Amino acid sequence: MNCPQDWPEPIVRVQSLSESGLEAIPDRYIKPPTDRPTTSLKESDPSIEDGAINIPIIDLEGLYGDDHDRRNSVLRQISEACRDWGFFQVVKHGVSPELMDRSREVWRGFFHLPMELKQAYANSPKTYEGYGSRLGIVKGAILDWSDYYYLHYLPLSLKDLNKWPALPQNSREVIDEYGKEVVKFCGRLMKALSINLGLEEDYLQNAFGGENIGACLRVNFYPKCPQPDLALGLSSHSDPGGMTILLPDDHVAGLQVRKGDRWITVKPAPHAFIVNIGDQIQVLSNAIYKSVEHRVIVNSAKERLSLAFFYNPKSDIPIEPAKELVTSDRPALYQPMTFDEYRLFIRLRGPRGKSQVESLKSPR
Ligand code: OGA
Ligand code: NI
Repeated sequence: MNCPQDWPEPIVRVQSLSESGLEAIPDRYIKPPTDRPTTSLKESDPSIEDGAINIPIIDLEGLYGDDHDRRNSVLRQISEACRDWGFFQVVKHGVSPELMDRSREVWRGFFHLPMELKQAYANSPKTYEGYGSRLGIVKGAILDWSDYYYLHYLPLSLKDLNKWPALPQNSREVIDEYGKEVVKFCGRLMKALSINLGLEEDYLQNAFGGENIGACLRVNFYPKCPQPDLALGLSSHSDPGGMTILLPDDHVAGLQVRKGDRWITVKPAPHAFIVNIGDQIQVLSNAIYKSVEHRVIVNSAKERLSLAFFYNPKSDIPIEPAKELVTSDRPALYQPMTFDEYRLFIRLRGPRGKSQVESLKSPR
């Protein structure tokens, strides 16, 4: 099955809504009470001071050096973070802080261009590439309070610079350089994850299709929202791909990660990336690592920008649990599926928690 050529109803840019100065948000953006940011999943535990918890922060410098003890210690920290959280921040990751800042600035510049210029890049659900304002094609769906830009780096057959924004000046060069650096970084992380799972260091990369992996970028723009308690910038979801490298806004928090029955608001460290496990690594690791639900809250005082870089398997090879991780005690939990088939779910239905990876469970 394919995605349709067009959206089921006219697209409204959330940024235009926000800038129109309305005091109440349209009904289409009002979440049902159980999904609103103010309702905690459970009565909060008063012994836990709000804001005292954060996802682990790992310094990766030792991963690249010759000091074995240091390297092992970094690997251990990554291993624990993958098992306990599925989410962690990394610093000294090897991507230049200056490039991170420049990339954020280019994208801020893009979203602040006049609307007519941005509209030239309007996307469709057929490929999702370009400037968009919704995920999923269900007519009448409740929408998220955000716009985005989506583009491909890899495979090279999908990399099309004409679909990247030509403005601000030099944006294509900066976006390209950012992609190259983050792809390199992902290659190193894939090795670390493979080793931690007890696999050959190239296992995950090969299972993803070797050189022919997929890499794409979704830049999320969350405009100011006059009623932030009723809306979400991005509904709860797990990322469908392999792993995600998120460059968060350097001034405004908003990402929340699910930890048991609580939503933890991530406090980004300076020049850190936020790494999270996607559904495809949950499947390949036979659920030793799990993709974790997350969502984004918005606020009335400040807009927020984030760059989500998705590192995915080649789209047409079946992804299934690694044979090495399947035993009689722990049989294969998932049936094979290609990523092309898998990502249709979110592209048609929009973000829906972890319902998709759950639905892939082998019948017992
Ligand atoms: C995503 C995502 C989080 C954020 O794009 O998949 O989870 O902070 N983004 O924007
Ligand atoms: Ni996500």
